[in-house]
Amino acid sequence: MKLWGGRFTKETNQLVHNFNASLSFDQKFYKQDINGSIAHVTMLAKQGILTTEERDSIIAGLKGIEADITSGALEFDEAQEDIHSFVEAVLIDRIGTVGKKLHTGRSRNDQVALDMRLYTRDEIDELDKLLYDLLKTIYNIMEANLTTYMPGFTHLQKAQPVTLAHHFGAYFEMFLRDRDRLKDIRKRMNYCPLGAGALAGTTYPLDRTYTAQLLSFDGPTRNSMDSVSDRDYLLETLSALSICMMHLSRFCEEIIIWNSNEYRFVDIDDSYSTGSSIMPQKKNPDIAELVRGKTGRVYGALTSLLTTMKGIPLAYNKDMQEDKEMTFDAIDTVKGCLALFTGMIATMKFNNDVMEASAKNGFTNATDAADYLVNHGVPFRDAHGIIGQLVLLCIEKDISLDELPLEDYKKISPVFEEDIYEAIRMQTCVERRNTIGAPGLAAMQEVLAVYKDYLNN
Ligand code: ARG
Repeated sequence: MKLWGGRFTKETNQLVHNFNASLSFDQKFYKQDINGSIAHVTMLAKQGILTTEERDSIIAGLKGIEADITSGALEFDEAQEDIHSFVEAVLIDRIGTVGKKLHTGRSRNDQVALDMRLYTRDEIDELDKLLYDLLKTIYNIMEANLTTYMPGFTHLQKAQPVTLAHHFGAYFEMFLRDRDRLKDIRKRMNYCPLGAGALAGTTYPLDRTYTAQLLSFDGPTRNSMDSVSDRDYLLETLSALSICMMHLSRFCEEIIIWNSNEYRFVDIDDSYSTGSSIMPQKKNPDIAELVRGKTGRVYGALTSLLTTMKGIPLAYNKDMQEDKEMTFDAIDTVKGCLALFTGMIATMKFNNDVMEASAKNGFTNATDAADYLVNHGVPFRDAHGIIGQLVLLCIEKDISLDELPLEDYKKISPVFEEDIYEAIRMQTCVERRNTIGAPGLAAMQEVLAVYKDYLNN
């Protein structure tokens, strides 16, 4: 039996039913659908639209359905169009005529708007926890590596020395912003659309504020047409998730490079690596590659929904049913990626010596050598030219600036004295950078204290 069979004289074509149905995927939010219905009938009874006996029998029926779906005792019936029709049909089947009162003062349009919002809100809370775990893991790595020196890169060319803590700190900032973005979205979306009806509210004296309270919303939505057609919060969520995946993907790209045979800055743990079916020596960074690869799926969901929404007139149209599958997929994908990525970096081994040696042999202290001249009164542009010549000389001799004899320095500029070596020592180069946000130990310790507070609150 269809919810809407009354005005039809023919059965729905089977292909039409299949094409139109959403039960195969909207069953994912059966819990939210049932909780929404429980709040709805609780409000209807408070308003005298249902009796308390009717309310109690409907709620008991709904709770039984929820328990049976969860235990597997109740299977989804493909003959039903969507989760809303399914739950209502089972309810009527189980409790009889009183079940037919559930949908009083409600449309599937405001019902689905509610369910998707409740689902997304729950998932945002899950994502928040996963991002917290990731931030905590990054924090622990930072705390242990405040003086682990490594080259900082621009153009993937060695630029200036930094520390592992500083490099990871950059990602701490990114993931912290990702977490904030989701919090902002949660706050903005936290208004209850139930009671908007099909599009124009209802004639029943619903207490929408009460329903909103029951479902932990900050209040009811203000415009019934907007309530049933707004999917902005999904677009915002997908956008925030796309940005988060972009951050994960960049981090993965770096880890893949660092884990390569040429770099060997890190070793991904065996438990997070995979082998080759033909080459026995291989240990591949598949998890990092998959996270990088799955970024495309999440971007795809965002682009897909933006495109779906762009030409839809007010208010509800069936196009909007397309908001679900890709959003579910994107959320599940990001949750999986966050959990795996966190596990991967928590177990990853850092080869501190290799990183430090790499920082030493790429002229990453050339800027500091120029700064030495500036501190002795040489204008920066001249200093830049002088150090450029010295670098060229070192390349010819195949040595580092630290190994170049003082006579060679002096030949190019008489300003150099023995203390040049101390000035360009890697530790000096990093530790003297103590302005806000720089990698020096004192600056980093201040930042870490801020992060610690953040994680404890
Ligand atoms: N399955 C539908 C969806 O996801 C539920 C709303 C149906 N509303 C309607 N007027 N056909 O959008």
